[in-house]
Amino acid sequence: MTVFITDTTLRDAHQSLIATRMRTKDMLPVLDRMDKVGFFSLEVWGGATFDSCIRYLNEDPWERLRMLRDRVKKTRLQMLLRGQNLVGYRHYPDDVVQEFIHMSVKNGIDVFRIFDALNDLRNMESSIRAAKQYKAHVQGTICYTTSPVHTIQGFASMAAELEKMGCDSICIKDMAGLISPPAAAELVKAIKSRVKIPVDLHSHCSSGMAPMSYYAAAEAGVDILDTAFSAFSWGTSQPPTESVAAALKDTPYSTRLDLHLLYEIGEYFGAVSEKYRHLLTSEATRPNINVLLHQIPGGMLSNLVSQLREQNALDKLGAVLEEVPRVRADLGYPPLVTPTSQLVGIQAVLNVLSESRYKRVTKEVQDYLLGYYGRPPGPVNDEVKKMVIGDREPIGVRPADLLQPELEKLSSDGKKMGILHKEEDLITYALNPPIAVKFLRGEIKEESLEPPKAPATSVVVPEMPSEFSVEVDGEIFNVKISPVIGKPVEVEKPKKSREVPRGTIVAPMSGMVLSIRVKVGANVKEGDTVAMIEAMKMRNEIHSPHSGIVKEIMAYEGEVVSSGDPLMVVEPDDQ
Ligand code: CO
Repeated sequence: MTVFITDTTLRDAHQSLIATRMRTKDMLPVLDRMDKVGFFSLEVWGGATFDSCIRYLNEDPWERLRMLRDRVKKTRLQMLLRGQNLVGYRHYPDDVVQEFIHMSVKNGIDVFRIFDALNDLRNMESSIRAAKQYKAHVQGTICYTTSPVHTIQGFASMAAELEKMGCDSICIKDMAGLISPPAAAELVKAIKSRVKIPVDLHSHCSSGMAPMSYYAAAEAGVDILDTAFSAFSWGTSQPPTESVAAALKDTPYSTRLDLHLLYEIGEYFGAVSEKYRHLLTSEATRPNINVLLHQIPGGMLSNLVSQLREQNALDKLGAVLEEVPRVRADLGYPPLVTPTSQLVGIQAVLNVLSESRYKRVTKEVQDYLLGYYGRPPGPVNDEVKKMVIGDREPIGVRPADLLQPELEKLSSDGKKMGILHKEEDLITYALNPPIAVKFLRGEIKEESLEPPKAPATSVVVPEMPSEFSVEVDGEIFNVKISPVIGKPVEVEKPKKSREVPRGTIVAPMSGMVLSIRVKVGANVKEGDTVAMIEAMKMRNEIHSPHSGIVKEIMAYEGEVVSSGDPLMVVEPDDQ
């Protein structure tokens, strides 16, 4: 039997290694050669690529898809779809799901790999049905994880359910690279004994075991393996396409792919990878069996690193990695994949950066405990639940059943704003309004590809900043440096402690202001939500620490703020 290959270089590989920053122009020149290889499919779209395109690259994701489709004539184009979350981080109502899939098929997607972070089939129903309706191939996906509540038989039963729901193949999605060779063999056999449709194994090299697990899976009868071209392989990405094809050659499981052609394509991506070298971290490129203990998937680890850097707290990485499994256990062992990986990861960051655990909680963790994400795989920690949602009862129905259709209203709002120029723009807008409005208005600038400058080692004075803050005995001082050598350095009290009025609410973290919930003159109570900041792709409610009257609002919606920036002044009642 032949083992087929899905190549992930244009989606998962660069998402896992270089924060999804590969440009369309770096993909196009090699597509005709990739089309000749004979892959089962090319995974090229979905996952974080949609968000990255509009947030960082100023690229229209639909345009990217059409350009890929124009050049890939024979090979199936595949996307990763987060069930009811589509390519976003929340559940969308069924009308948005339906139209997203319609537009995706129309622009060139053949295969939908559909998963739900909690393996809750209710969250996959709607997208599976829509994809079938548009005659696409549906790959029903099992998020693989290990925990006291996950078993091989449980996963095999899920595969049987997915086949019953009409799926055309099954994917074992091992996003954290946890699957060992014996576990891969056992799981593939268990699933193959329950279903007739092909089985795909998707793993990551995070722990270094994936190439061995692939071989074990091939021996156990797997039909498809996911790989990426060498320059974008290993580490938190997939095993190398070239090496897997070479390893299986002359075995009963040969991929029958042309190694010379694979080598040539590999060389092309080798040259492309040089452009993105500055985005590669050693954490993302080196195998680490610690992943078997804390279970952090590829994308999540590189995100945690860049988010902690953004919050100036990279030194807390170790503590955060230790906190992740504790938060995961508290939440009933969700598999760590988008969006639960972000949900658990950010909560772990908050637990480490705040003085006490669950003192600050994201809206997402509240919603999770209320059942809005679906059914947690295992029981949640009652104490944490009580702390976060009090006596409120979780919902018992399919979460999307509680959502009203949105497209009609979004369409009329979008038209009023004049941002909808083609039918796909409505979907772009529906997925993430704050970012999409900026993108559709042409206000997003492509992120620079210039590597950040290395810190200067020489002492060239004119290059030094003229002003910076320095902490002295717990007080922040603004230090002004005169450009002329010999002039005395002035030290003055910080502007903030002198000018910032009492009752000022500051941003607890760096991020973008999503909404301001109050107006000047409003009365707020202690604990009221006064603003929402999106940090690390999670929405954080900002609560007023005291009751009072809103005197002044300094922040505006869409503003990017740093930790400590004043948002507003709520003059306390007690004066
Ligand atoms: Co993956």
